[in-house]
Amino acid sequence: MHKKKIIFATKNNGKLKEIQAVLSDTFEVISMNDAGLNIDVDENGTTFEENALKKAAEIMRISGEIVLADDSGLEIDYLDKAPGVYSARYMGENTPYSIKNNKILEILKNVPEEKRTARFVCVIAASLPSPYNKTLTARGTIEGIIGYEIKGENGFGYDPIFYLPEKKLTTAQLSLTDKNKISHRGKALHIMKNKLIEIFK
Ligand code: IMP
Repeated sequence: MHKKKIIFATKNNGKLKEIQAVLSDTFEVISMNDAGLNIDVDENGTTFEENALKKAAEIMRISGEIVLADDSGLEIDYLDKAPGVYSARYMGENTPYSIKNNKILEILKNVPEEKRTARFVCVIAASLPSPYNKTLTARGTIEGIIGYEIKGENGFGYDPIFYLPEKKLTTAQLSLTDKNKISHRGKALHIMKNKLIEIFK
């Protein structure tokens, strides 16, 4: 069967690989680069949904293709869910994560385990052109706690401080395959995949 083409609105090749791993048995997923698009969409919304929908809609309007976009971040309950949608920009976009992670460990230094709860959130939005004229969102989360030290070499961003008590590991200590099976992005992707299959069947 002919696979429907989907543009995934990211310039991050790591994310593209994760997405292709889940979707490519059913869809042809290409990056903005592959589609010849070099556009930056401002992530100026206050929710993950708002940012993901805005990105997907804008790239769909320009390309006329089916577009998926995601927005994700870390919510720390003790910090009233910060950095949240500002996760990439927390302490400055170009500040190394070793510094950001150490700062968070410092802020939470004397906070007991039961108050260190946190989650990664990922929202994937789809914008479908005519004849569908639809937008969809799918949200995935993974619950954990902020650890007491930096641990692990895999993953990216806040992974070295995101500790999974039941596994006794941070997400930076998981292989990419194992992380994808339980991650916020993996969960949101599976939900979105099922919604798309339902629409296109
Ligand atoms: P986005 O690329 O605009 O969605 O930014 C997401 C930001 O949230 C990243 O730059 C990281 O700081 C953080 N983040 C999202 N997902 C993860 C993850 O799986 N591990 C570690 N950090 C993450």
